[in-house]
Amino acid sequence: MTQAIKDKLRGQAIAIDGPAASGKSTLAKGLAEHYGLVMVNSGEMYRAVTWLAIQKNLDLSDEEALLKIVDELNYTVEGYTSAIEYQGQQLTTELRLAQVNAGVSQVAALPELRAKLVEIQRNYLNKQGVQAVVMEGRDIGSVVFPDTPYKFYLKATQEVRQSRRADQGEVDVIAKRDAADSARKASPLVIADGAQVVDVSNLSIEAVRHQVIELIESV
Ligand code: CDP
Repeated sequence: MTQAIKDKLRGQAIAIDGPAASGKSTLAKGLAEHYGLVMVNSGEMYRAVTWLAIQKNLDLSDEEALLKIVDELNYTVEGYTSAIEYQGQQLTTELRLAQVNAGVSQVAALPELRAKLVEIQRNYLNKQGVQAVVMEGRDIGSVVFPDTPYKFYLKATQEVRQSRRADQGEVDVIAKRDAADSARKASPLVIADGAQVVDVSNLSIEAVRHQVIELIESV
């Protein structure tokens, strides 16, 4: 990678949005490794709040209660990876539980909760040692970093996505989540203004990464 590209990306966010199981995390990880940037999975934040709310037996529609627990989680960066911790433990497999998959879209529809998490997401660029981020989610190009010139929207048929999720061994009714994420009032899943749409249905992981790297370098 040339110094010119490194300079171009400094202080920027590469935004990757798309529906469930469209390959956002895989692409974001690949780009973060390629450019030496921090990858942030914003969906994990909505999942972590959902998981903790379930642990605490909170009503998932009680926005005030959910706003309070956001501060019990720690949003950390180490090297090129970001993580979410609760009581000193990194949250991993618990974020992919069927109960979390089933509840997260309801939690993600709460507007004040979103505003609070968006602030945390923007703040990654101010963390020590962070030059630029690759962030993936549903509203990264439309709401979190609307001014970034690096916006991508991954598109794949529902059949392809549902079968990929099943291959991962997860119980996840993605059609239901997609419908809720697209129909909600607060920051619905949309193709952001200026986003480049990449149809990944028939592309390998490497081919997607290659295509997006070419697009980034042509900006
Ligand atoms: O990995 P997958 O695509 O299945 O989902 P995710 O990125 O982990 O996101 C889980 C859920 O969080 C989504 O279904 C949305 O309801 C919500 N989400 C959101 O509303 N906004 C984001 N920027 C990221 C996720």
